Amino acid sequence: MRIDLLVRGAAELATPLGTRPKGGRELGALRVIERGAVALSGGAIVAVGPEAELRARYAPERELDAHGGTIVPGFVDAHTHPVFLGTREDEFELRTRGATYVEIAQAGGGILSSVRGVRGASKEELLARLLTRLDRFLALGTTTIEAKTGYGLTVDDELKCLEVLRDAARAHAVEIAPTFLGAHDYPAEYRDRKPAYVDLLVEEMLPRVAETKLAEYCDIFTEGHVFGLDDSRRILERARSLGFGLRLHVDQLSALGGAQLAAELGAASADHLEFVSDAGIEALGAAGVVPVLCPVVPLFLRIDKEAPARTMIDRGLPVAISTDFNPGSCYLQSLPEALTWAALRYRMSAGEALTAATLNPACSLGRGDRLGTLEPGKQGDVVVLDVPNHRHLVYELGRNPVASVVKRGQVVHEAR
Ligand code: NIG
Ligand code: FE
Repeated sequence: MRIDLLVRGAAELATPLGTRPKGGRELGALRVIERGAVALSGGAIVAVGPEAELRARYAPERELDAHGGTIVPGFVDAHTHPVFLGTREDEFELRTRGATYVEIAQAGGGILSSVRGVRGASKEELLARLLTRLDRFLALGTTTIEAKTGYGLTVDDELKCLEVLRDAARAHAVEIAPTFLGAHDYPAEYRDRKPAYVDLLVEEMLPRVAETKLAEYCDIFTEGHVFGLDDSRRILERARSLGFGLRLHVDQLSALGGAQLAAELGAASADHLEFVSDAGIEALGAAGVVPVLCPVVPLFLRIDKEAPARTMIDRGLPVAISTDFNPGSCYLQSLPEALTWAALRYRMSAGEALTAATLNPACSLGRGDRLGTLEPGKQGDVVVLDVPNHRHLVYELGRNPVASVVKRGQVVHEAR
């Protein structure tokens, strides 16, 4: 049978299986095939198996040589903030000298510094910057991202960012799941009348954004210095009634109990969770919320606290690992790098890390039926790593291991 593409020449193929999020022992249970290959046609995966078998069955139009590397599914990054203009290396340096993230934010820096940049930028400028970042995601093996707004904080500036995300998705191979994060912080003009900004979100911004259908999800920064539990509930209930899926930044800097709120509201994901309580973990598990963990963020913020990932995994929660790419709390686009830190800090195996960067985040984005594993019928999103086995994915620090990338069955990136 003729097919479009055969990815072959690998030492190993490794993939999670299925369409449901995995926790507990299942998290690290991969299908590993020595000298495995993938057959693709019409943008989808046709077959996965030992190269010799696929060779006998299929006549490929084109072959992609893995040069003795490892074949894995395209990475899915379920938490990024990629629509911004300027960077914030000044704040990084302030933190190395002892300032905290909240102190910097309260002095008018932090998120509001990025808001000034986005408000002053044209759509064209933002799009050009985003496309460069998408190139980098692809070169690092990330074929799908969740992407938040949250640096506009007016109806028009938030819509501008959502339009930029739509235009970027049309122009680029990286698939984007867009999220409205109007409740990221209070804009400067509302600092002295915060309740009025919550009203604006509920009464005007959310309905307008819903009308445009430019966002699949609504997110919020639930934390003591920004949106408390009651305001968060009000905003998210409105979002849910307008048809948005919900994602929440919770229990990142303090133990506010945001995880329980995410569970109560039936959110798709609860993100960060450094300070989550035992009761919060129970609630997330019972409600089937995917914990999206960002292992590099506390490092970057110099906060000596990590999410209790091992407890969550052992209680069966299907954790995902993300970069949280943003200019303030984590200027990192590399999921392979994030996975190494997940292995070291969270004591995750390479197999667990791979599932947490593919199938579980795909499920948290409502795409588990289509993305996240290498199986017949799934979309043809494939990454070739120039490492001899999947364990190198977490073992090797500081080098991009991605040799080539296939998106929807097309070769969209080759390192050499
Ligand atoms: O995920 N926690 C809130 N939002 C981001 C930080 C955004 C920023 O500082 O620009 C985060 O850490
Ligand atoms: Fe974030």
